[in-house]
Amino acid sequence: MMPDVEKILIPSEEIQQKVRELGGRITEDYRDKNPLLVCILRGAVIVLGDLMRYIDLPCEIDFMDISSYGTGTSSSGVVRILKDLEENITGRHVLIVEDIIDTGLTLSYLKRSLLARNPASLEIFALLSKPSRRRVEIEVKYLGFEVPDEFVVGYGLDYAGAYRNLPDICVLKPEVFQGDGKR
Ligand code: IMP
Repeated sequence: MMPDVEKILIPSEEIQQKVRELGGRITEDYRDKNPLLVCILRGAVIVLGDLMRYIDLPCEIDFMDISSYGTGTSSSGVVRILKDLEENITGRHVLIVEDIIDTGLTLSYLKRSLLARNPASLEIFALLSKPSRRRVEIEVKYLGFEVPDEFVVGYGLDYAGAYRNLPDICVLKPEVFQGDGKR
């Protein structure tokens, strides 16, 4: 285990089992629909890679980069699109793939913005959710795990750009944050 890690919250085997199960549900739900998986950079990259291999259907992927933690804008609900989709989603069955829903502000903005492009359907996959932190209601069709109000890293999630390559979802030691308000 990395020296900065205090504890493993969700071990990699459990993540794989859950992502496989959700991939199975998506396979059932999207038969003949050629879904477009929209990965929100950068945290959802790892889960997208696993999830798409558990979807036993033709599907496509695209990427969007939006400002969130670290930019100072996520709590205001003003979200900036840093990189937009390459694909035209009008008439497509779109599934947003997100790493974690915290306040819900990022996804709520994103959902509105994508709905304005008239997709055939728009649903949300989120690996993690922190329900106690929610500020806006958001319907998540495919949810991996609910986590307590702790800052988590690993399996794609970062702290200051680091720890994305940890295979498990982990909580860092308090001293790593050096009083920056994350815990
Ligand atoms: P929201 O708009 O507050 O729901 O913010 C969601 C975004 O905040 C996620 O996509 C993550 O980038 C980031 N985030 C929220 N909680 C955590 C965490 O515990 N670890 C790492 N990133 C987080």
